[in-house]
Amino acid sequence: MGLNLNDDPFIESLRLDVVRPKRQTFEIIYINARDQVGKASKKSKDGVFSLGVRAKSRTSGPPRDSYGLLDSPIRKHTPSFPRLSHAQNVTPHECGFITISSAIFQRVLVGSTHVRGVDFRILKETNSSSPSVPAQYSACAVAAHSIISLSEPIGTNLLSIWFIVYGLYMSAQRGRGILVGNDNTRIELQPFIPRLDEQFACHKARTTIPVFRLCFLDQSTGGTIDWDWWKHASFYHVYVKSFRDSNNDGIGDIRGVIEKIDHFPDSGIDAIFLSPIFQSPKIDQGYDVSDFMDVDPEFGTMDDLKELITQSHERNLKILLDFVPNHTSDQHQWFVDSVKGVDEYRDFYIWVDAKYDGSGNRQPPNNWLSVFHHSAWSWNETRQQYYLHQFHPTQPDLNFRNPKVVEAMNKVLLFWLDQGIDGFRVDAIPYIFESENLYDEPPSYWPGVPDYEFESLDHVHTKDQPETYELMHQWRQLLDSYSEKNRGHARILMSEAYTTIENTMRYFGTRDGTKLGAHFTFNFFLVGDATAGASAHDIVVSINKWLDNIPPIYTSSWVLSNHDNHRISTRCGPGNIDGFNMLKAILPGIDVTYYGEEIGQENGEILYEENQDLKVKNRGMFEKLCRDFERTPFQWDDSVNAGFNDGAKPWLPVSSKYLETNLKKQKGDGPSHYKVFRELTRIRSNVVLVRGSTVVKSVSEHTILVRRSHDGSSVVLVFNKGDSQVVLNVSEDVSKTNYVEIKSVQSPKEIGYAVDPHHLKMEPHEALIIFCSI
Ligand code: GLC
Repeated sequence: MGLNLNDDPFIESLRLDVVRPKRQTFEIIYINARDQVGKASKKSKDGVFSLGVRAKSRTSGPPRDSYGLLDSPIRKHTPSFPRLSHAQNVTPHECGFITISSAIFQRVLVGSTHVRGVDFRILKETNSSSPSVPAQYSACAVAAHSIISLSEPIGTNLLSIWFIVYGLYMSAQRGRGILVGNDNTRIELQPFIPRLDEQFACHKARTTIPVFRLCFLDQSTGGTIDWDWWKHASFYHVYVKSFRDSNNDGIGDIRGVIEKIDHFPDSGIDAIFLSPIFQSPKIDQGYDVSDFMDVDPEFGTMDDLKELITQSHERNLKILLDFVPNHTSDQHQWFVDSVKGVDEYRDFYIWVDAKYDGSGNRQPPNNWLSVFHHSAWSWNETRQQYYLHQFHPTQPDLNFRNPKVVEAMNKVLLFWLDQGIDGFRVDAIPYIFESENLYDEPPSYWPGVPDYEFESLDHVHTKDQPETYELMHQWRQLLDSYSEKNRGHARILMSEAYTTIENTMRYFGTRDGTKLGAHFTFNFFLVGDATAGASAHDIVVSINKWLDNIPPIYTSSWVLSNHDNHRISTRCGPGNIDGFNMLKAILPGIDVTYYGEEIGQENGEILYEENQDLKVKNRGMFEKLCRDFERTPFQWDDSVNAGFNDGAKPWLPVSSKYLETNLKKQKGDGPSHYKVFRELTRIRSNVVLVRGSTVVKSVSEHTILVRRSHDGSSVVLVFNKGDSQVVLNVSEDVSKTNYVEIKSVQSPKEIGYAVDPHHLKMEPHEALIIFCSI
């Protein structure tokens, strides 16, 4: 099966699933086309240059020999080849595209895809003129030659552009190269021709134009596994109910996601995860599941979901579901049978006898409180016992000390994996186990918190219990063996845990990696710390707390908002959305986008009467606690209901700001948050962002600076989130040789121009991504 290529030249994040024999990292070697190729070519008699790929063992020892395409002359004539030719080490998922700068022909960049692991013996030493080279290799050599020929004319920029067009045209004419790996993996080398106007646009913006793509073929042939596709991926959180309503019943649905599926690859997204779509009475918006193995009719059918999975995979988009293991709905058949005492299900939930006080009044077994406040115990008349619910009374907690429950939930995971799901968000993981002794929890002594509120207790017996981490390890093993058995790529777990930094880290696994848990655990610290009143220093402390605590073997993730927390644009001001999107895009690891964040969508406006969130029913602090504000429909365009549906009353009102803030408008003329967002997903494949070291600091009360550095280059974010202009000396982090690669919508700077690091004037809410060479 060939891979589906997207024709948009800006989409560099073609995701390719590759099979491979063992874990390896890759080294992509590229030539600095202007300077180094020139030098090398003088030394090489046949004028053949290197454009190579080599594999090296991840674990130890020097890299094995290079098997670079057209590699030998350079290696022979220039022993210092790696430095001279600006070799770059990249992690596997950077392999894939090779792009060349349209502006100055200086850089041949390695773009982003999730390609890894194949033994690159496939690229034998060869050159285009050798008669002994098999046809498929020479086709590649032809394409490589196009790059080389492009590198030579460094005349006027206009001339250069024509050379690109010509070179690409020529390579396209000569066909495509298919490389066959020693494990039968096949790579297709596809010449890539952007439209002329896009080439001019790239040229003007000094961005890169892909010259050809390395595409792995035959995903389905089995053999090896892509374990690391997620490690530098851009994830997108789809809140299905609010994304797109295809049947105009006011509720977003799976077919709506299908209708809008191209939005993800268009935006450079690698993986989406859906809020719960399982059968549910939806008292807690689907987090109260009544059948884990079926789709709720309000969201569509099983066939719709299968189609969404297929369509996602055709676009090399991974698709993950929300796994809600802590509890079920009280309407789940398991609970119904448990209440009745049916043998099989008797102990599926946590049932405890009542206590009686001195006057004979019935009391819950202890003082435990629910996250949604008041006692975590509810009395059941039929069983004449209390049952535990760490959330709402309609969400009874499953008893994971019962092996039958563990087995039943494993079946749920396997069921969805068999449908082609690529992994799971594991909901509310800290609450899975409680200590068996049922001791009261001590008070937290938080000032001003009433004693019925969850925060009034220190949850030493009901959160982050040792058994919870063990269960995560077991689930990880289950998924890893499934991936081993079914090949292709790793199926992954992402854990949702709001807890201390130490306990959060434990969800990854042990520090030494001997036991693995979630592939990554969401980093929610910015969600809490990036607030209206936060200074740059507060945000820097929050980021560094994470970076200082994460064991080096694990992968960070960056989250700004979600369906349980107010949107970042509302918390920190709509003018700061580009800066925050830049922040999460350039920090190391995984970038998670909550639907609407790409356009800077703000919280919607909800009246108390319109509230749908059980968390705030019958409670004060509506504005602060109600989660409906961040769940209003996605703003697609300026038509009725912002394009969410065809006019039926949406389940939550569309924000009144949709005429100003919508995707269609932001795709149109002029700068926009969405265009900044797309630029950000584009540059995430840059080796500096994938591999670089990280420095995060505040450089004024409201200015954050992030520097990522690698191999003589750095990418620097300067983000003034404050309301006043600042003039900064950033010469410690920004070298003289620099240019602005991306700027926030408000920025008056010119893309492609250098800033003065000693005197950098930053306007209010201005954010810049500056590329520097040292
Ligand atoms: C998770 C969900 C939240 C839900 C809760 C209970 O925290 O994100 O929306 O209310 O679990 O299931």
